[in-house]
Amino acid sequence: MANLQTGDPAVVLAALGVSKHFGALQVLHGVDLQVRQGEALGIVGPNGAGKTTLFGVLAGTLPASHGQVLFDGCDISAWDTARRCRAGIGRTHQVPRPFLSMSVADNVRVAAQHGAGLRGMAEVAAVQQALARTGLDTLATRPADTLGLLDRKRLELARALATQPKVLLLDEIGGGLTEAELLQLVALVGSLHAQGLTLVWIEHVLHALLKVVGRLVCMDAGAVLAEGEPAAVMAHPRVVQAYLGGAAA
Ligand SMILES: Nc1ncnc2c1ncn2[C@@H]1O[C@H](COP(=O)(O)OP(=O)(O)OP(=O)(O)O)[C@@H](O)[C@H]1O
Ligand SMILES: [Mg+2]
Repeated sequence: MANLQTGDPAVVLAALGVSKHFGALQVLHGVDLQVRQGEALGIVGPNGAGKTTLFGVLAGTLPASHGQVLFDGCDISAWDTARRCRAGIGRTHQVPRPFLSMSVADNVRVAAQHGAGLRGMAEVAAVQQALARTGLDTLATRPADTLGLLDRKRLELARALATQPKVLLLDEIGGGLTEAELLQLVALVGSLHAQGLTLVWIEHVLHALLKVVGRLVCMDAGAVLAEGEPAAVMAHPRVVQAYLGGAAA
C-alpha cells in the first residue's frame, strides 16, 4: 500500500502539484517534489523563490491552495502541524525561535513534549539523545540567550531532533556563520545523515550544501527549474539564468 500514489516505494515525503497563494499573490505554481528514504536532498533558488513556503506546506504550517502532500504513502494534506510532527516531519526555521530565558535542555524538552508528545522516560531519553547528537550536552544548563550563533544553530537542530523526525527539513541553518563555524555545522548535519536521517536542506551557501546532499532541486518563482545530480543542476541553463538574471541560457 505504501507510496502507491507517487509510484515510487522509496519516496517518503512528496508534494504533488502544490500551489500556494496569499490573496492575489501566487507563490507556488504546481510544485512536484519527491524525497526518498535516507537521502539528503538540497533545495536552492533565489530569494523569494518559494522555498520556505514549500517547507510550510510540507510541515503543515501553511495549507496548500491546491495539490497534495504525501507522507509514508498517506495523503496528509489535511493534517495539522502537530499531527505531521508526531508522524515524523521535523523542521528547523530560517529565523530560529528558542525560548531565550530557558535553558538549552528545557528548550529541547519543550520540543520533545509538544512536538513528539513524549513524557517520562521517553522524554528524558529523547532530550539526552538530541543534546548528545548535537554536542550540546555540556551546555545543557546554559540559558539559550547566552549561546553564540553556532550553538544556537545546534540548539535549533536539537529541538528538531527531539521531535524524533523521520524526515528533517532544514531551512538555511548555515546562514550568518563564519567559514570555520559553517564547516562544523556541515560536519554535524552530515553525521545526522550518515546515521540514517532523511534530510531536505534549503541553503544559500552552496559549497556547504554540496558537502552533504546527493541530489539538488532548484526553484525559481514558485516552480522547480531543475533537479538531479548537483553539478548538473547548477550548470543547467535555466538555473544559471535564474541566478545571473539572464547572463547565460
Ligand atoms: N505569509 C505570507 N504572506 C504573503 N506573502 C508571503 C508570505 N510568505 C511568503 N510570502 C511571499 O512569498 C514569496 C516566497 O517567499 P519564501 O519565503 O517562500 O521564499 P524563499 O525562497 O524562502 O526566499 P529566501 O531565500 O529569501 O528565504 C515572497 O515573495 C514572499 O514575500
Ligand atoms: Mg526562505
